[in-house]
Order: sequence, then structure tokens, then C-alpha cells
Amino acid sequence: MDFVADNDNNNGDNNNNLLGETFTASDKFLERAHITRMDYYHRIYQLSVQNPDAFWLNIAEQFYWHNGIQRNNNNTRAAAAGDGADGKLFDYNFDVTKGPINIRFMSGSKTNACYNLVDRIIDKGLGDRIAYIWIGNDLNERKTITYSELKRNVCKFANVLKIQGIRPGYRVAIYLPVSLELVTAMLACSRIGAVHTVVFAGFSSQSLADRIIDANCRLLVTADGTVRGNKLIKLKDISDESLVLCKHRNHKLVSCIVVKHLPVPNSCQQNRWSKYEPKFDETIDHYWDELIEAASDECQPVWLDAEDPLFILYTSGSTGKPKGVVHTIAGYMLTTALVFKYAFNYRDGDTFFCTADLGWITGHTANVYGSLANGATAVLFDGIPTHPNAGRLWQIIDENGVNSFYTAPTAVRTLMKFGDDYVNRWTMAKLKLIALVGEPINREAWLWLYNVVGRGRCPIVDTYFQTETGAPMIFPIPGCIPMKPGSATLPFFGIVPVILSEDGQELSGPNSGYLAFKNAWPSIARTIDGNHERFESTYFRKFPNYYFTGDGAVRDQNGYLWVTGRTDDMLNVSGHLLSTAEVESAILDNKRIAEVAAVSMSHPIKGEAICCFVVLKAQQIYDLQLEIDLKQRVRDKIGAIATPECLFSVRALPKTRSGKIMRRILAKIARNDVRELGDLSTISDESVIDELITVRRVVGDGDSGQQ
Ligand code: WTA
Repeated sequence: MDFVADNDNNNGDNNNNLLGETFTASDKFLERAHITRMDYYHRIYQLSVQNPDAFWLNIAEQFYWHNGIQRNNNNTRAAAAGDGADGKLFDYNFDVTKGPINIRFMSGSKTNACYNLVDRIIDKGLGDRIAYIWIGNDLNERKTITYSELKRNVCKFANVLKIQGIRPGYRVAIYLPVSLELVTAMLACSRIGAVHTVVFAGFSSQSLADRIIDANCRLLVTADGTVRGNKLIKLKDISDESLVLCKHRNHKLVSCIVVKHLPVPNSCQQNRWSKYEPKFDETIDHYWDELIEAASDECQPVWLDAEDPLFILYTSGSTGKPKGVVHTIAGYMLTTALVFKYAFNYRDGDTFFCTADLGWITGHTANVYGSLANGATAVLFDGIPTHPNAGRLWQIIDENGVNSFYTAPTAVRTLMKFGDDYVNRWTMAKLKLIALVGEPINREAWLWLYNVVGRGRCPIVDTYFQTETGAPMIFPIPGCIPMKPGSATLPFFGIVPVILSEDGQELSGPNSGYLAFKNAWPSIARTIDGNHERFESTYFRKFPNYYFTGDGAVRDQNGYLWVTGRTDDMLNVSGHLLSTAEVESAILDNKRIAEVAAVSMSHPIKGEAICCFVVLKAQQIYDLQLEIDLKQRVRDKIGAIATPECLFSVRALPKTRSGKIMRRILAKIARNDVRELGDLSTISDESVIDELITVRRVVGDGDSGQQ
């Protein structure tokens, strides 16, 4: 795909004179890099922000539009600016004080994401190219599928959905392990205009039910189960529980389609799942393979508006109720395609491996939409990095000739702990690039990745993004932008980050503050499903005329951005956002608990872990069983990922005189960082603090979250 012409590589100097420690790509990498010169980056960047319509038009032209590219939409922004409506792709209002937040891109143009991702690639003559290499939990589990085969399966499943009554705009919940069927189901939805909402298969029945109801899903696609490491996860049982919960809340689904994902039990050895027999309710359940078998493999794509919804993906919100982030077709498709090409320096025929589960935005963006739009071959891994040993990811890279590897800092820290030998056993011969996402990476882990995994020759692309931004926004374009360990560096084309002070002033030069974005970009979320007011208040009210990320950031003397973490009540555990409120509400379900505050503490592997301070009701005694029950409740209600690392029983919580829990103080106590507790002038009872510190010292191990 030739979105932006590559620069002519050999003249002009790559700006290596940045202060501080920087790393640049090797000469070998530069030979195949799309962009190698900073002046070229700056030039394209300027063009992209000064004339976004022209920039994105060039990219849109690489895709198929059923009625051509419509540029005469009712462009209120252009009209307001007095510069005419013609030729504009964007139409948006970012200023909540002037009217509702409204973002539209290319509306009026008709397209179909699945067609652009699959049919368009086949039409380019790449039908026999492998779209996915699927690798299961155990070493012998491997399947491949070409673009043509994928299209066939997608069409069949799209017809199945139609037969089940799914129409454009209907919502379909997908609760599956990382599998070819999961991608097939997502694409089938987009082919017929249904809206997919993928729920991470590690979530509990309660979380699944909440999402099914919130999004008003009519159909659920699930599996019998999956095996992760040595653990069997009974997905169908969990789905059944969740459908019972839905029924109690008067939400009825039309059908539940079950993929037989578990390998057939091996007759010689007693497999862990051979005794597991999920229930099958004929009034609602259907087996995937039986439906697929009977369906036609021809299905015309439905031509949809560029601004029709493509999917909903839930992310944590600081009120505790998950937010259904809505992405629309054209903006998301174009941005993910473009970012995929530049962030991973995608070259025709490259094999890409991203460890993210498809249930998170990274999985959607990198493994499905970005990868397919570029005609890439992607590896999908349905196992864990330490099974059967801590060399599994490196083995996958070698055995499948992986060129680009995308993972999260938490995985890097876990694997680093096992030592270099596991990596050194493998050659990493084809690997040319490593990318990261999810949380800030510490320097030590960055250097280990660079030197040990990348053998000192692979750029490390630290990509900053969010479920709401749809695609990476800030990252060092490999081969061009020099890297600094721990910094996501500079913005991608079309993105204007700013650092704001508490009172909303843009801070220039080296500074720290709130990270926000000026101007819309195509893949920004359009709303929170069913709650536009919450969308506006979460992202646009604190700083009118900006999209506020909720993160803090530092800009250094070179203009590089260092994301420092959340500034709200959100926790980032193993690269996944969780809200303190959600965890607290699970703990409060226990009748022995009067009050609770969940805060984050640093954790050597997960980055952050959850620490809860609980106040018991009168006459209650804290014991081990209560601790077990509380942890179990959080697992059941949200999922294992949210399990608190530490629980402390305390007499009272520190509160302001108006009764607000002072979480920043609790976070410092949880982190054993009590030298400087900050401003205590509003606290109602200062004696609580000393007690808390004592409890933390006596009960805690003092070693950031190890139990
Ligand atoms: C954090 C994940 C530092 C950040 C794609 C953001 C990062 C949240 C980085 C979004 C990074 C993501 N450096 N922090 N490279 N990437 N984050 O929605 O706090 O699950 O707001 O999307 O992850 O998490 P989400």
C-alpha cells in the first residue's frame, strides 16, 4: 500500500543530535525503512495537520468506496470557518461549550470494512497468501488460513448470522479464545453491517452479562472452552451462567453459537478436559461447525455509511460501569491501516506477531483491521508465554519467521525474570522490529528487549494509544525517529498532542501536565454506547476544545513525550485498565464490609497491582477466610485480572472534611512511600494516617505487592 511516498533514503541527515540517550535504527534496517529522515517526517506531519482533508483523501483513495469518495457532506465546521464545504472529509465539534461533541469523517461515502480487508486483498492477487497462522496452547497445535479461505469462512458465517435474524446495526457479542473463528465472526459482522462486541475470554459471567445487556446484543458466539497453560477454562459454562443473569434482567438472546475449540481428547492420555461436558440447550444453542457446514459461501457485502458503527469495545470507566466505546467504519479502517504500515514498517510479505488478546483494542487494531488491510500474515497465539516454558514466544518467532513482534511491558518483565538462556536458544533470524503497548516501559526492560531479544538490531517502537483513540497516536516511526527508552517520542501524522496545566493552558517546551489532543483524527471514538453525555464528560468537559486522555505526560527538551500514567481513578494492571470503583463495588457485596478503597501499588511484573483498604462493619473480625472470599468475589464479578494483590483491614479511611476518600494518600501508603504524603490540610482525622502506616508495615511485606 502506498499511502505516503517513502522518502528518498540517502540524502539529508537523520537527526541524531538529540540530547540524552537515544538509539537509532541499524543501517540494515534503514535499507528497508519507509521513512528515514526527520525532515521528511516533519514535512509530512505538517501537511497532515495543516490540511488533514488532503492528507486523508490520499489514504482513502487506496480503499474501495461503493459510491466514490463523497466530499460534499454537510460540513458544519468548514461552513462555520467560512472556507466552504467542498472537498472536506472531516466534520466535527470538539468544543463542548459550543454544542454537542460530534465527529464525522467521510460521511456519505459507502463502504464495507470486510470487503476492504479481505476481498480487496484477494483482488490484488494475494488470495493464496496466508492471512493467519494460529498457534494453540500446546506445541503441536498450529493451523493456517489464506485470504481466500478466510473470505469463504467469513461469507458462510455471515450467512449464518443472517439466518439467525441478524440485520445491519444489530449487536453480536463474541466471547471466544484467540482463534480463527473469532476473526471470522468479527469480519462476518462487519460484512453484513452488524456491530461486534468482543468480550475478553478472561472476563467473568457477570462481566459478560453486563456487556451483553448494555450493548443490547441479540446473539452470542462462544466456545466450549480453552486451555491456557495447564488450566481449563470452561467458557460455555461461564456463558450459560451469563445467559441466566441476562434472563433475570429480562434480556433474551436469539441464539448462542458454540465453537468446538477444545482439542479432541487424546485417547492415550487423560486430558484435563476429557471429563468436561458443557450443557447444550437446544432451544438456544447451536454448534458453529454444523451451521457453517450448511451455509452458502457467497455473501455480498452490505454497503454502509462511512460513519456507521463498526464495533463496540468495553473499557473501564472511573465510575465503575464499563464504557462501550463506539468506533465507526471508515475512520477506524483508514487509521489502523496507515498506522500498521508505519509503526511496524510493514513490507509486503512480512509476518507479524502480536501477543495481545483479540478482546482488547490492540488485538482489534493490530491483529485484525491493521494487519488485514495491509495484506499481512499475522500470527495468533492462544496460549501463555510461559507454557510449556518461558521460551515459547521466542520459539514462535523463530519457527514462523516472524519479522515484527508486538507485545506489552508486563510480558517483557515476566520473561526477563527467567533469564537470557530462553531467548538465546533461538536465532531471532528474521526479526527486524519490536513494538510495545499498554503502559510505560521501565528502562531495564527496554534495554533487555533491545539487546537480548532484538540482538541490538531491532528498533523498539513504544506505541501509545487507548481503546478510545483506536490506533497508536504517539510512537517513534522506526528508522526515522530516534528512540529513547521509556518514551513514546513524537506524534504520528495527523495527531496534535498538547500538555495542559490544571487550568487548561497549553504548556510549551519541557513541561509536565495533562496529555490531551487537539483536532479530531479519523479513528477517534464517536461516543459511548447509549450514553453520549458520559462520552462528553469523560473526555471533553475538563478541557473544552481538547480530547483529554486521562493520562499525565512529560515533554522533555527534545519535544519527546513520556506518558507517566493515569491521573484519574483508573488502574493499569498488566497493561489493562481497571477502575477502582468496579473493584470496590465487588468488595462491598460482602455484607461484612462497611467501606473500601482500592488503589494501585507498583508491582515488579504487572506494573501496577490493586491494593484494597477495607473497613469492617461493627463486631466483624478480619480473617483469612474473609480475605479469600473478597478476592474470589472480585474474580467472579470482574475476572481474574482484577484480583487484589493485597488487602488491609483498617479502622477508618482517610477522608476530607466533606467525606471524600483521599486515595492519593492511600496510594502512597500502599506503595510504602510515606515520606511525603502531600497536602493534609483537608483531612478530617489525621490520626488515621499513622494507624494506616502501621498496618501497612505490620501486615504488608514491604516488597511492592509480593504475597
Ligand atoms: C496506557 C491500550 C504509556 C495509558 C492500547 C492509556 C500507555 C491506557 C502506553 C489505555 C504507552 C497505553 N506508554 N502508557 N506506550 N500505551 N498506555 O484503553 O494509560 O486498554 O491511557 O488501550 O494505557 O489503555 P487501553
